[in-house]
Amino acid sequence: MSWKVMGVAAGRKDSNGEILLKEALSACQEQGAEVTMINLWDYDIKDCNGCTSCTIGMSMGKHTGCSLDNADDKKKIMEVMLEQDAVIFAAPTFDLMPSSLFLKFMHRNLAYESAFLTKIGAIPPRDRVGALIAVGGSTRSWQSMALECMQATTFTNSFKIVDMYMATQVPAPAQVLLYDEKIARAREIGENVMKALNTAPEQRKWLGDPDYGWCPNCHSNSLCLGEPQWRGLQYPIECVVCGAGGDLEKTEDGRWRFVIAENGLERDRTTEEGRGIHCDEIAETQGGFFMDPAKRALVAERLPKYKQMKFPTIEV
Ligand SMILES: Cc1cc2nc3c(=O)[nH]c(=O)nc-3n(C[C@H](O)[C@H](O)[C@H](O)COP(=O)(O)O)c2cc1C
Repeated sequence: MSWKVMGVAAGRKDSNGEILLKEALSACQEQGAEVTMINLWDYDIKDCNGCTSCTIGMSMGKHTGCSLDNADDKKKIMEVMLEQDAVIFAAPTFDLMPSSLFLKFMHRNLAYESAFLTKIGAIPPRDRVGALIAVGGSTRSWQSMALECMQATTFTNSFKIVDMYMATQVPAPAQVLLYDEKIARAREIGENVMKALNTAPEQRKWLGDPDYGWCPNCHSNSLCLGEPQWRGLQYPIECVVCGAGGDLEKTEDGRWRFVIAENGLERDRTTEEGRGIHCDEIAETQGGFFMDPAKRALVAERLPKYKQMKFPTIEV
């Protein structure tokens, strides 16, 4: 059986991200994968309008689709994307994070929440593999949220991220072609995707540098101080991406490491179970609001004040 691997680029045509993505995809193709590649610039993608009809539907076990289904190309792309065994995403870093085009495309995934679609039989079950490539003009310091934001957007479709690469200091178009080691690393991304696909789904694991990032669970390089979560759970330190909870410990050689607590993966966002707890939270906070006539009446009473409040705007 040949694996289906797709590349999604969000950067300039024939430039750094596309080049690295093509190198990774060619490694997959050489190993027999059926490869597709898109650049988001070639499609009409509208911003999520925040209507939440998809999540309201899901909380009632209904598939409402997306209110923008007929308004742009997202649905057509998703019909192909959800049939892939693996997807490699390549995005340029803008202001420390992935570009808005990439985020705009990925935020629309909520209406295609694959665990839900699988559960109701709208799509067949599939264990999806993912890999990430971020490219930027600077070092990690100026791409500090790039891979982290990219990974966060892959949860909705349950991609198991097996490797990620940040290509640094390539600001000019196609400048990455000056660096053989960066091209080789991109190829390794493709090879690792194939390695993961050729491993039984339950045994698939992270194939990048084992010490990459702070978080031993999702390999993000970003932590925050823990605050009380829904129903009071709190950790001293949390991974901003997967939500692993734990604390910092000093190693014998005097360096700091993030150690995950015994219950630290209770709400691991990389798993469907962990995300399920967030669904319960939404059911309580959003569902609880819709189901409570007194709360809705109070909001209806207070809203007119703000609806009537007007300030000078900008005429264009
Ligand atoms: C609006 C804008 C913001 C940018 N911000 C950053 C940044 O915060 N960090 C960084 O490393 N590079 C930044 N860059 C540089 C791009 O990431 C870089 O040009 C990259 O090579 C673009 O990828 P591409 O060649 O695949 O399009 C920025 C570029 C633009 C246009």
